[in-house]
Amino acid sequence: MSNELTITPENIHQYCKDHSTPPSDELIALVPATQAHAPKVAHMQVGHLEGSFLALLTKLIGAKNTLEFGTFTGYSSLAVAEALPKNGRVTTLDRDPKATALAKEFWKKSIHGDKIELILGDARETVKKLELQILSGERPEYDLSFIDADKSGYEYYFEASLKLVRKGGAILVDNVLWSGRVLNPEDSSDHTIHQFNEKIKTDKRVEKIMLPLRDGITMMIKL
Ligand SMILES: C[S@@+](CC[C@H](N)C(=O)[O-])C[C@H]1O[C@@H](n2cnc3c(N)ncnc32)[C@H](O)[C@@H]1O
Repeated sequence: MSNELTITPENIHQYCKDHSTPPSDELIALVPATQAHAPKVAHMQVGHLEGSFLALLTKLIGAKNTLEFGTFTGYSSLAVAEALPKNGRVTTLDRDPKATALAKEFWKKSIHGDKIELILGDARETVKKLELQILSGERPEYDLSFIDADKSGYEYYFEASLKLVRKGGAILVDNVLWSGRVLNPEDSSDHTIHQFNEKIKTDKRVEKIMLPLRDGITMMIKL
């Protein structure tokens, strides 16, 4: 049994992984290292299949600058960094110095690690600064935003992404199926994710598709 969070049957998930391009050695090593570092929350890591999906999408849209809400131990940041050109950059936001210390340790082992910029702090505050820097021309707009931090912040991060991502760029939101609990929401986090999904459904500023990949991912284009 793997520790991966997935709503598809585990054997199907495994079959999909077995028929996809394998991850790098650094990404493979980051899985047991995360399990050792944070066994109770290691399932937060996007893992091989979703990581490969993010990487392939990054290449498909020719992304150069990407934004990420929720670094944790750095798996998704590194998967995307590997897919970026040499002068590409992942800006990743988190407020946890311990988990991100492990991330930095692993990024250093990769030739793609120097493409990753970690900004520590509450992502709600950090995005305000990023917006000012983009407005002043200090930073380019982002080609892709991946939302994977606290679920209560999803609406805020989505609105922020609409300001920070270029027209035609991609916005991705993780865990939108919330282990299937969005079908019969009970606790407050179930309701938060379901309400967010309902809002996105009718939002005319984006074209979207919700995919049953791992714990559910909604992929959008900013119109
Ligand atoms: C699901 S994990 C991210 C997993 C990561 N994408 C990966 O592939 O390993 C969510 C992360 O969001 C961070 N987080 C939660 N609320 C935050 C906030 N308000 N500001 C910044 N980071 C936050 C947590 O510290 C945690 O590391």
